[in-house]
Amino acid sequence: MPVVAVIGAQWGDEGKGRIVDVLADRARLVIRYGGGNNAGHTVINQYGTFKIHLVPSGIFDTSTVNIIGSGVVIDPGVLLKEIADLHESGINTDKLFISDRAQVIMPYHVLQDQLDEMLRGDQKIGTTGRGIGPAYADKMSRIGIRVGDLLQEDVLLKRLQFILENKNRLLTSLYKTQELSLHEIYLQYLNYGRQLANYVADTHPIIHRALEKDVPILLEGAQGALLDIDHGTYPYVTSSAPGAAGACQGAGIGPTQMHSVIGVYKAYSTRVGEGPFPTELEGDAADVLRQIGKPWAEVGTTTGRLRRVGWFDAVLARYTAQINGVDTVAITKLDVLDTMPSIQVCTGYRMHDTELDYPPGNPTTLSQVEPIYEEFPGWMQPTSDIRYFEHLPKEAQAYVARLCELIGVRIGMVSVGPEREQIIEVNPVL
Ligand code: IMP
Repeated sequence: MPVVAVIGAQWGDEGKGRIVDVLADRARLVIRYGGGNNAGHTVINQYGTFKIHLVPSGIFDTSTVNIIGSGVVIDPGVLLKEIADLHESGINTDKLFISDRAQVIMPYHVLQDQLDEMLRGDQKIGTTGRGIGPAYADKMSRIGIRVGDLLQEDVLLKRLQFILENKNRLLTSLYKTQELSLHEIYLQYLNYGRQLANYVADTHPIIHRALEKDVPILLEGAQGALLDIDHGTYPYVTSSAPGAAGACQGAGIGPTQMHSVIGVYKAYSTRVGEGPFPTELEGDAADVLRQIGKPWAEVGTTTGRLRRVGWFDAVLARYTAQINGVDTVAITKLDVLDTMPSIQVCTGYRMHDTELDYPPGNPTTLSQVEPIYEEFPGWMQPTSDIRYFEHLPKEAQAYVARLCELIGVRIGMVSVGPEREQIIEVNPVL
C-alpha cells in the first residue's frame, strides 16, 4: 500500500491541508513531518472552518492516526490551544501522537527571531516571527530541547539551566535585552509537558508497524519547496526541508518506502515575505488574484499579511517537481482565474541575451530575470459548481493540461473552491 507525500511545490499556502483532509479517510496514518506554527492550513469540511498550524489535517477522520513527527518544531502553548479549539468543535484527538523526538520552540527562540528580523533592516527575510529559524538552528547546534525532555523534570531543569545561561548572555550582551527567568520558563514548560503527556510517544514503532502492515500513509508537508533551506530562494527561505526528502527525514521513513509525491500548486503564484518573485503582479490583475473580501482571500493564515501574487511560473514549478520527484500534480484555486479574460504562464526566463529554462540559484539574479510568457484565453465563466474535469470549460482544461505538460508530471487533482467536494479527482492518487 502506498506511502504518499503531499508537498507544497511553490512558496507555501498551496492548499496542502485541504488535499490531506480529503485523502485522510483513505489513509490509516497521517504524519506531519516538518515546520512549525509558521504554517497555517485552512481546512473547510462538514465540521466547520479550521485554521490549523501543527495538528495534522487528517485529524477530522476518526479512524486515522495522526502524528506530529520528529522533524517538526513545536510551540507547546500554540499546540495546546489548537487541541483545545478542536475539542470545542467536537473533534476527537485521541488518535493524535506527538513524537518525543520533535523539537520545542522556547520563548527565547521567538524573541531571537523577532530581534534578528529587526536587526536585519533592509536585509529582512519577512519571517513569521514564530521562532522557527532559531529553533532549527539550536537543534542543529545540539542545544535544542525535545518534547520528551518536557516529561522529565530533572533532564529539563539541567538542560534549561545550561542553555539559558548561554542565551541570557546573548540576549543581554548582543541583543541588549533583559534576561529571561529560568524559574518561570522551567515551570511553564514543565506544565506544558504535563498537559501534553498523553499525546507524547515514541512514534517510531507506530509508523513502522503501519509500514509492515502495508497500510496507506500520508506524509503532510508544510511551507513549500521554494522555501527549502537548500534548494529554495536562499536566504529568503524557512529553516527546514519542506519537500520529499524532508518528508522522509522528518517522519523517519526511508526514501525507498515512499511510493508517490503529490506536488500541490496553485493555478497562479503567491508568496509571503521577502525574496525574488519573477512573475509578481501589481494592480488590477493582482487584485483579482488576491480575492480580498472572500474567505479564501490571499491573506496569510498565520500572520494575516497580504500575500504577494503573480502568474504561474512553470520554470520554478518544473524545478520543484524535479528536485522532489513529484509524480502527481494537484492544481488548486483554479476558480480564482474564472474572471480573467487572459492568463499568462511563465515558460522561461530571459537574462541578457540568453534564455533559461531553470532558475538561477543566486536570488539577486533570479529577481532580475525577465519572464517569457505564454498567453492563454480565459474561460470567463464560473467553475465552482463543476465536479468532473471533463465538464470544465475547454479553455480551463487546456490550461491545466498545459501546466502539467510544462511541469512534466501527470494531473491528479484540481480544486475549484474551498470546500471538500470542490476538489475534482482527475486520476486516482491514493
Ligand atoms: P519562517 O519560517 O517564519 O522563518 O519564515 C521564513 C520565510 O518563510 C518567510 O518568507 C515566511 O513568510 C515564509 N513562510 C514560512 N511559513 C510559511 C507558510 O506556511 N506559508 C507561506 N510562507 C511561509
